[in-house]
Amino acid sequence: MSRSLSDFTGAAGLALALLGGGVAAAGDRHAAAAVERGRYLVNVAGCNDCHTPGYMQKGGAVPVGEWLTGTAVGYQGPWGTTYAANLRLTASRLTEAEWVQFARQERLPPMPWFNVAAMTDADLRAIYAFIRSLGAAGTAAPAYVAPGGKVTTPYFVFVPQVDPPRAAAR
Ligand code: HEC
Repeated sequence: MSRSLSDFTGAAGLALALLGGGVAAAGDRHAAAAVERGRYLVNVAGCNDCHTPGYMQKGGAVPVGEWLTGTAVGYQGPWGTTYAANLRLTASRLTEAEWVQFARQERLPPMPWFNVAAMTDADLRAIYAFIRSLGAAGTAAPAYVAPGGKVTTPYFVFVPQVDPPRAAAR
């Protein structure tokens, strides 16, 4: 019995399909590992402290689904008034490569941009994978207000205070 060409192509096709399935499964595992790593980094690097509403006040007891949706309480100092952005929306409009570049840009206080800029590409990509896995949610944080401008939200004042009577008594 002679074997037809289609037997061979069929077997080759099956082998390729199996190989493809293996590659896809490995890809899924890789993606899941990046998401988990990103979640860990966001957690320990303190991104939620400012970018997640109520995170500080609740000692971190905020559901992951609400993480990084930005806050409407401003941070005011000599730089004006800034708001921790909704990173879920930010990530949703950037590609991975754009995010890596964007995340490293210099920002106004109290954003610790220098810490984020020091992260490796792999860490920044993992953070991106995690944020994208959460999906876009919430609304944009209020816009930056220049020094002396009208601020319509609550805000923290970041100006060092010296208590005059106690300082004089020392
Ligand atoms: C102490 C508060 C604070 C912490 C902690 C913090 N951020 Fe921010 N972040 C801000 C503020 C405030 C802004 C807005 C800065 C500005 O307007 O220039 C900002 C802006 C950003 C932006 C720009 C977003 C956009 O759409 O414009 C990115 C990206 C970002 N932060 C990422 C991070 C990551 C990642 C972490 C954790 C490693 C982090 N931030 C931790 C306060 C913080």
